[in-house]
Amino acid sequence: MGEAARSPWTARVLTLFPEMFPGFLGLSLAGKALENGIWALDVLDIRDFARDKHRSVDDAPFGGGAGMVMRPDVLDAALEGARGQGGQLAGPVVYLSPRGRLLDQARVRDLAAGPGITLLCGRYEGVDQRVLEAHEVAEVSIGDYVLSGGEPAALALLDAVVRILPGVMGNEASPAEESFERGLLEYPHYTRPADWCGRLVPEVLLSGHHDKIRRWRRTQAEQVTRERRPDLWARHSRAQDEGEG
Ligand code: ADE
Repeated sequence: MGEAARSPWTARVLTLFPEMFPGFLGLSLAGKALENGIWALDVLDIRDFARDKHRSVDDAPFGGGAGMVMRPDVLDAALEGARGQGGQLAGPVVYLSPRGRLLDQARVRDLAAGPGITLLCGRYEGVDQRVLEAHEVAEVSIGDYVLSGGEPAALALLDAVVRILPGVMGNEASPAEESFERGLLEYPHYTRPADWCGRLVPEVLLSGHHDKIRRWRRTQAEQVTRERRPDLWARHSRAQDEGEG
């Protein structure tokens, strides 16, 4: 199959705020890749799948409590509407939620290797649990903090995936060197001037000894990971002990 015949990596987004898309993904590298057809974005307004004349999408929670819950019948209709030609969804269905599994670079790589993703963005207090179960929706969180809705989390997830799609990053970027690719945070970077306000660039980087530079960067990466992310460091050390590193 020729390059042009392959369908682009596709993100289908279900949201009550379609104006939030593509947002910043319409700019810079992701925006260019969208224009060039490396990825595609379909945005569906959940309200278009409401069933009553008030177009209501939410209701009060059974059992009482604050806020509103998004209705399973409306979301079910929206998910059915998100099936493309041939009745296929664009990849796994992911609901962005602080209750989800934390997103990491391994998950981002998996998603980038697949055909795409269907993203469900919630507002209010959440969505009815039954529709998540019925559609085998995976819940994904982008961090241990609460956003006012899933949209910024969806944009962050898409940014992370799109930038590693083949043909998106120029030659300037090298994913193998960056944070998380080897289970470590990245080493620090320096550029000209070598003396900036009396702050000097580490000597070794001016030495021209590639092997020394590589070892220095490695040590820096290990040190910063140990200090800032003991969780990553513990996992990295275990992998090294098991001979994977
Ligand atoms: N929606 C609200 N908070 C979120 C978070 N931390 N991650 C993903 N989706 C969210």
